[in-house]
Amino acid sequence: MENQVIDLVDTHTHLTDEKFAPDLAETIARAKAAGVRRLINMGDTLASSSLAVELARRYEGLYAGVGIHPEELCELTGDREEKLFVLAQEKKVVAIGEIGLDYHWEKDEERRQGQQKLFIAQLDIARQLRLPVCIHDREAHGDTLAILKKEGRGLRGVLHCYSGSPELAQEFWRLGFFIGVDGPLTYKNAAKLPEVVQKAPRDMVLIETDAPYLSPVPHRGKRNEPAYVRLVAEKLAELWEVSLPEAAQITTRNAEALYRL
Ligand code: NI
Repeated sequence: MENQVIDLVDTHTHLTDEKFAPDLAETIARAKAAGVRRLINMGDTLASSSLAVELARRYEGLYAGVGIHPEELCELTGDREEKLFVLAQEKKVVAIGEIGLDYHWEKDEERRQGQQKLFIAQLDIARQLRLPVCIHDREAHGDTLAILKKEGRGLRGVLHCYSGSPELAQEFWRLGFFIGVDGPLTYKNAAKLPEVVQKAPRDMVLIETDAPYLSPVPHRGKRNEPAYVRLVAEKLAELWEVSLPEAAQITTRNAEALYRL
């Protein structure tokens, strides 16, 4: 069994983070050695989006998402909007992301409305450019769902680092949105996530690392990296009662379908 060829995609990572500056090439090489042949680097500001595009140009197997994260709240007008549009049309840009709502860190009602506006503006760009979206939803499930129902027509995407209930997941699947799972799936306190994954239609699940954050067990608490998406795939295989190569094949097919890799 050993030496089975597996082909994984880390659908959400942040190699633009300064934590990878000292050993970026080695990190990518370790990912490839672990069977992670393709990676999608998500931007969270215009600067990191631009860097993600640059890295995608430089490394084979690297793709980019471009977008402004809700924690980087700003108004998407003028130059800024123009710049995002230009970046989004670059070769190897496969998504608008990561975008969304974060009510964990933002308690101010007016600023939350600002996040909603920024989110909707970026959904609009995705629609115009026919790109899928990668969504960050932290403690903002109700508004995320409401916005996707109202403003998400014609869009496809993923609820990255899914943290909601099985019932909510059904709603997103019904809208045609995937869920993305990462390190927390391997945690003892994973709460409802294993149940969500077990109930999930297999063609609606993506795997990711969100590196450098959320390292899967046994690396929890240390820097995460794309090679560890294999540990997420192993946990998924266990929950689905399939082999690792099978879980890899299913999730890779899903990533290819959503992001047209
Ligand atoms: Ni992320």
